[in-house]
Amino acid sequence: MNDERDPRPGDGSGAEAGSWDGYGDGTRSVHAGLPAPEPGQPFLPGPVFAAPYHLDPQAGPAASPNGYGRPDNPTRRALEAAIGELEGGDCLAFSSGQAAISALLLAVLRPGDGVVLPTDGYFPVRAFATETLAQLGVRVQFAPTAGPYPSFEGVRLLLLETPANPGLDVCDVAELAERAHASGALVAVDNTTATPLGQRPLDLGADLVVASGTKALTGHSDLLLGYLATRSAELLDLLRSWRATTGSVPGAFDAWLAHRSLATLDLRLARQSANAAAVAAALSQRADVTGLRWPGLVDDPAYPVVSRQMRRVPGVLSFDLGDADRVTRFLRASRLVFAATSFGGLHTSADRRAQWGDDTSDGFVRLSCGVEDGADLVADITAALDASA
Ligand SMILES: Cc1ncc(COP(=O)(O)O)c(C=O)c1O
Repeated sequence: MNDERDPRPGDGSGAEAGSWDGYGDGTRSVHAGLPAPEPGQPFLPGPVFAAPYHLDPQAGPAASPNGYGRPDNPTRRALEAAIGELEGGDCLAFSSGQAAISALLLAVLRPGDGVVLPTDGYFPVRAFATETLAQLGVRVQFAPTAGPYPSFEGVRLLLLETPANPGLDVCDVAELAERAHASGALVAVDNTTATPLGQRPLDLGADLVVASGTKALTGHSDLLLGYLATRSAELLDLLRSWRATTGSVPGAFDAWLAHRSLATLDLRLARQSANAAAVAAALSQRADVTGLRWPGLVDDPAYPVVSRQMRRVPGVLSFDLGDADRVTRFLRASRLVFAATSFGGLHTSADRRAQWGDDTSDGFVRLSCGVEDGADLVADITAALDASA
């Protein structure tokens, strides 16, 4: 944990339990952001629902960490302490991943600045760049996640997304951060698919992490969340005041649910990854499934970078079933695979990305493995593929 952390306590009243550096992932997930034990108090304090708070009649807002709900909420601060602990930086929570990403892009970029974004990343980010940033006079360039990358001369921000959603290509964050920094560019990494237990971009040299907490981080398919994390006090200040003035904060109940869900992150990721390994092994035997990608497969093009950069492999796979009708038949035949977008949740789900306007073939499917029993999942998916062939 670094020295620039917001000194205000996670629960707004007592001391935080301190850093969990050096502990295992399960311990860190369970304890991150909790206040120090106090007799008679809950482990995770309940959500604080407040717009205004009582003020000291004379000293006003200076007398308390809580004055008004947009900048100040103790439930949100506890969640930020937890995510910051896992990412290894200071965290700011936003109302969604898109809110966090657009905050980063708008707060950092000025007319004339260059930005490099992934061609194969989350497509609303590309749309935001071409529709909004370009109109503001930002020079928008795209590069495939697996490279090649352009020169970073004149680039203010390099945004990487690794593994990229939905194609699951990866890039070497440390190498690109070194190149980008040599040209004076900032580097941000979208850590949505990996989560901070899968990869720690700040340790790899990135200046910022940006992510959707809607996916595996919270994993229960019941809330939207985004966050930014950094070790730079200057960037933290800039982004904190951007958020306070533009207002895209998560509500107290969502922040509390997210913090509660974080406790099982290690367990959920372990099961999702094991299930993905079993499903990938089954799919790789089938001639009627093409273009299979799972970064944990030894012969996947992403594997060499993944094996040295990532701490664990996400439970998300992609493959092609040829056409939209076959995908429909597959989804109808399966009992365990929910037809749904998003990924990283407890329930296995599959999404035909082209139906949302993503730049993928008609039969392209992103499959997100949940925490069901692996044998049940493999049997169900195999039967549904046989029935839909
Ligand atoms: C990689 C990635 N980044 C950002 C987002 C946006 O997150 P949200 O849906 O929470 O706004 C998503 C959503 O799917 C995503 O997959």
